[in-house]
Amino acid sequence: MKLNKNLKLKLATAAVEAKNNSYSPYSKFRVGAALLCNDGEIIPGCNIENLSYSLTTCAERTAIFSAINNGKKIFSAIAITSDDKNFITPCGACLQVISEFAPKIKIILVRPDGKIKLTSLLKLFPSPPDLKFLAK
Ligand code: THU
Repeated sequence: MKLNKNLKLKLATAAVEAKNNSYSPYSKFRVGAALLCNDGEIIPGCNIENLSYSLTTCAERTAIFSAINNGKKIFSAIAITSDDKNFITPCGACLQVISEFAPKIKIILVRPDGKIKLTSLLKLFPSPPDLKFLAK
């Protein structure tokens, strides 16, 4: 799926909207993600915290799991945003989960002031574990 300026903006907007659903009473750090599937559908995700902190799910994984649960497996881009004035990048756990399904995915970082920065999973996670022997 060609990632033109319009589509990037659409994904950025969807990520900002997804952030509104964030359940983050503990960190008070809202995160939103929007995942572009190969059929053009955009699947949103927000971070979901828990009073047992380690059960928290990041926005990126919420989006990926929701997409898989809806029968989608091919992804071309994911937009990520928070309320912080800086760009935020996915945590290690999310990079690993994203790499399982979309090692070539483009990552669109979105600041609250609307600035967008394009990067990729390959740049942020250049050497994922290569456990091909598991895939029998
Ligand atoms: N968080 C995300 O959802 N995505 C990120 O990329 C970074 C961190 C969430 C997890 C937790 O709910 C809060 O942000 C603070 O770490």
